[in-house]
Amino acid sequence: MITPTPLMGLVTGFWSFKTFAAAVELGLFTRIAGGRVLTVQGACTEFGLPERPADLLLSACASLGLLERSGEGYRNTEVAEEFLVAGKPYYFGGQVRYCDERTYLPWHRIGEALRTDKPLTWDPQAKDSMFDGDDPEMLALFWEAMYSTSIFTARALTGAYDLSGQRRLLDVGGGAGAFSIELCRQNPDLRATIFDLPHVCAQAETKIASAELTGRVDTITGDFLGDPTLPGGYDTVLLSMILHDWDEPTNELILAKCLDALSPGGTIIISELLLDDDRSGPPAAALMGMNMLVETEGGKNYSGAEYREWLRRAGFADIRTVTFEGPGANGAVLGRKP
Ligand SMILES: C[S@@+](CC[C@H](N)C(=O)[O-])C[C@H]1O[C@@H](n2cnc3c(N)ncnc32)[C@H](O)[C@@H]1O
Repeated sequence: MITPTPLMGLVTGFWSFKTFAAAVELGLFTRIAGGRVLTVQGACTEFGLPERPADLLLSACASLGLLERSGEGYRNTEVAEEFLVAGKPYYFGGQVRYCDERTYLPWHRIGEALRTDKPLTWDPQAKDSMFDGDDPEMLALFWEAMYSTSIFTARALTGAYDLSGQRRLLDVGGGAGAFSIELCRQNPDLRATIFDLPHVCAQAETKIASAELTGRVDTITGDFLGDPTLPGGYDTVLLSMILHDWDEPTNELILAKCLDALSPGGTIIISELLLDDDRSGPPAAALMGMNMLVETEGGKNYSGAEYREWLRRAGFADIRTVTFEGPGANGAVLGRKP
């Protein structure tokens, strides 16, 4: 029998998110790291909560798979212990914080974006793109969110595509450097250069130093839209979550510059949440597309078929797609410079 019950799941999606975000904001998962069991009474004392909200929060977190029962209390599930404890290598809290503090309220006006085709998180009359360095809130949140999403996505990519033969990678729009850092950690012969805007390279330098990769990962400041060329001589060029920010003509320009930056035989990697070729899913890619409506002018999530066609038109050969499962990508489209 057909029922409206799945629709209730859709309607209450924001209850799940806000419960999750509130627990992260309290630092719940970090406080009980290492298998510590927390009772409702313990949560009252530790977080200064009255008993009813403490009880509701712990129970709701357990229902969402973030906590599990242990005797009279609760402890972190495996996923919470691995990804929601601050300071752990694949900490995901930056993305939770960004969505909670930066995009949640603008999403409330999604109907406006549908009618106007204009972003909601920044004013396109006042600046050229969401990536300008003039917004301190954005500087504090966005690149940390990208780092926390991309660090595991990069690891997932290495499970699907072997970079062990590659030596020099240009990470175009590399952000705070998660991909460069993780790919260099996993591939001892690889060196990487993060190419990004000056205020972003400054953030990347801090991450490179904490990862103890100074010397193997460096940064070059520049503008992949305004600069006529990218730095050259690389055997690998990576575009992770770049092309979904822009429209098709802009992406064709970026791809042409990437082709020039590669040595003959070099490989381009486009890592994204790829839409199925019939555009009917998966939800992670299709809803990231909706988020591009909220956050960008002209960006959208594209299908693997679209990327393959653009690579073919740009002059790449041996074009193929590999699939994997990461928070920031479900696959990568690869091409070789002839
Ligand atoms: C969605 S983020 C992706 C970051 C990173 N590749 C990752 O996957 O974690 C887009 C990145 O593109 C950079 N970017 C945007 N416009 C740029 C431009 N004109 N030149 C260089 N970098 C740019 C932003 O600063 C940001 O770091």
